[in-house]
Amino acid sequence: MSNVDQPQNLLGDKPFDGAAPGTPPAKTTGGQPAYFSCWDVHAYYGESYIVQGVSFDVREGEIVALLGRNGAGKTSTLRAIARVDDPALKHGEIWLDHQPLHEMKSYQAAQIGIGLVPEDRRIIQGLTVEENLKLAQIAPPVGWSIERIYDLFPRLGERRGQEGTTLSGGEQQMLAIGRTLARDVKLLLLDEPYEGLAPVIVQEIERTLDQIKSLGMTTIIVEQNAIAALHLADRAIILDMGQVVFDGKSQEVLDNADLRQQYLAI
Ligand SMILES: Nc1ncnc2c1ncn2[C@@H]1O[C@H](COP(=O)(O)OP(=O)(O)OP(=O)(O)O)[C@@H](O)[C@H]1O
Ligand SMILES: [Mg+2]
Repeated sequence: MSNVDQPQNLLGDKPFDGAAPGTPPAKTTGGQPAYFSCWDVHAYYGESYIVQGVSFDVREGEIVALLGRNGAGKTSTLRAIARVDDPALKHGEIWLDHQPLHEMKSYQAAQIGIGLVPEDRRIIQGLTVEENLKLAQIAPPVGWSIERIYDLFPRLGERRGQEGTTLSGGEQQMLAIGRTLARDVKLLLLDEPYEGLAPVIVQEIERTLDQIKSLGMTTIIVEQNAIAALHLADRAIILDMGQVVFDGKSQEVLDNADLRQQYLAI
C-alpha cells in the first residue's frame, strides 16, 4: 500500500548484539527474552503490506490462540515466523530459544524446531501414511518415534499402509500433525487444524491436542473456531488488519462478549 510508511531499520542493518531483542514485546516476562518472541514484525506480499508491526511473546509450554477475522493476517504471521519466502519479512526480530529466526531461511527455522502444520496439510501423494512419517525423519533432528505417533493417533497406525492422500480429512489432519511431531519441534504452529472437519472429528483432534499440551509442547494455534481454540489455549492474541489488538488470557476473551463481537464476530 502506497500510503503506508516503509519501516525503518531493515533487516541486516542492525545485527543482534546478544542483548534481549529490541524494545520488549507488548507483554514481557520481567525483561528476560521469552522462549519465543516476535518483536515489531512487518511482512509484505510484494507491495502489499500485511503484517504491520506484530509483537508478542510465548512462554515455554504455553498454548497461544492467534485469532482474528478472515484476512486479519493470522496465516501470514505464522508464515513469517516459519520464514517461508512469502510474505517477505522486511523488519523485526523473531526469536526462538535464543536463536534469531529473522536471520534464517525456512529450512533453518525447521532445523531449529519450528513445526508449521499448514492449512492445506500437504500430504505427499503416492506415499503411504508410514512413508509420509518416515520421510519427515529423513534428516536430523528427529522427534517422536513412529510408534509414539501411532499411540497418539491410533487411526494412523491402523492405516499405516494406506496412501496418505486417500485418508479422510480428519485423518489427513492427524497425519499432518504427526508428521510435524516426527521432527524435533520446539514450537508447533497449527493453521486451522479443525477446518472442514465434522464436529466429532474436531473433538477427536481436540483431545489429541490436549494430550500434546499436557506434554508441554509450546504451540500457536490459529483457528476460525475461536471458542474451541480458546478452550485449548492459555492465552489469546487477536489480530486485526495485521496488528495486535488484544493480548491476554483466553478466559478474558471468553468472558468479554464485546471483544468477541468486535474482532471475532462471535
Ligand atoms: N499470497 C498473497 N499475496 C497477496 N496478498 C495476500 C496473499 N496471501 C494473503 N494475502 C492477503 O493478506 C491478508 C491477510 O491474509 P491471511 O491469509 O494472513 O489472513 P488470515 O487471518 O489467515 O485469514 P483467514 O481467516 O481467511 O485464513 C489478506 O488481505 C489477504 O488477501
Ligand atoms: Mg489463514
